[in-house]
Amino acid sequence: MTSTREQDLADRARALDAAHAATDLRDRFVLPAGVIYLDGNSLGALPASVPAAVADAVARQWGTDLIASWNSHGWWQAPERTGDRLAPVLGAAAGQVLVGESTTVRLHQVLHAAAGLRPDGRVLVVDPGAFPTDLYVSAGVAEQVGWRVVESAPDRLPDTLAALAADGVPVAAVSYSHVDFRTGRLWDLPGLTRMTHEAGALAVWDLCHSAGAIPVDLDANDVDLAVGCGYKFLNGGPGAPAFVYVAHRHQDSFVNVLPGWHGHAEPFAMSAQYSPAPGIVRARVGSPPLLSLLALDAALDVFDGVDVRAVRARSLSLTAYLRTAIEVLVPGTAFASPAADELRGSQVSVVHPEAYGIVQALIARGVIGDFRTPDVVRLGVAAPYLTHAQLLAAALALRDVLAAGEHLDPAYAERPTVT
Ligand SMILES: Cc1ncc(COP(=O)(O)O)c(C=O)c1O
Repeated sequence: MTSTREQDLADRARALDAAHAATDLRDRFVLPAGVIYLDGNSLGALPASVPAAVADAVARQWGTDLIASWNSHGWWQAPERTGDRLAPVLGAAAGQVLVGESTTVRLHQVLHAAAGLRPDGRVLVVDPGAFPTDLYVSAGVAEQVGWRVVESAPDRLPDTLAALAADGVPVAAVSYSHVDFRTGRLWDLPGLTRMTHEAGALAVWDLCHSAGAIPVDLDANDVDLAVGCGYKFLNGGPGAPAFVYVAHRHQDSFVNVLPGWHGHAEPFAMSAQYSPAPGIVRARVGSPPLLSLLALDAALDVFDGVDVRAVRARSLSLTAYLRTAIEVLVPGTAFASPAADELRGSQVSVVHPEAYGIVQALIARGVIGDFRTPDVVRLGVAAPYLTHAQLLAAALALRDVLAAGEHLDPAYAERPTVT
């Protein structure tokens, strides 16, 4: 029998789905029936535009037109062209975004470039809670360029910068993620960027968990350098190329630590000397992964005519609703994700000692989220293809899993390496 609380939640879901009908973009995706997909912050769902575009790239462009496709199908310009398509989603004017390589590679590249842009800088500030690759890259680049890495959670940045200033230590760059990958906490990109600039440093942002989900307004916020994944909320597919943003004002002085022929001013001159191309093109490295790049390009059809602010408004409603539904149905739940709208990214993270088993038991019920060590159940909310009604179903599944002890199944005692 359905309880009154459950009925109230269902009524509310119906009302909210009706109120947000204009931003329901499920028809732009191919989604399996019977699945509630809460992992779009890890691998975005398949946009409906992608299969035909990839089939065309393989069969017609590669299969028939062969090498002529570099010109006739614009393969050569794909990294800049796709970057320009992505730019409005990031609040960037054209000519500042380039697609290709992984986020890890791009972060290496922009941090090295930051060292060149701030030659007197001695310190790189990072968040100790950052995604591991960001920490590895920061440590590696710091060692190569002679920086000291200073760890400071973003909310401690004012104190950290004040202490460094008091000691007369010049800061080269502050490198943060816009959204914490575990907790889903959204950091204040405009405020932290301003503070970084006041300290004379460059603001470098990892936008993996915000690009396509949250307005980042890179130009308006005066961000210097940024990177982000193509396969999460941008739905570019497994291993999709990442993007890099280099603000116009830094491009002439941007030194590419990975100079390759694709970033050369005249690649087909086959010169023995490297001469960087003007503009964002100088951030290119070597031959891009064309099939993945064309998949990401097609995936960006999802954003045609869609303002990322509308996506954010839908996401805020969905995540607030999911949190409330869990609070009502599973009283006492501990959340890692903040309750306040202005602090919440596009995910709800639940903390539980049996988090791994919960995630597996939910998957067995068709509710796909993911586990992050040591104790986080991550429920990613990709707003374009989720509804409030689906999130109620997910919260009910969580309640039922816990009530029946399904998460304690011995089969979940062993964790595979990819979770
Ligand atoms: C915040 C963040 N940065 C970087 C990465 C790694 O990106 P890549 O595997 O493209 O190098 C991830 C991957 O999930 C991430 O969440």
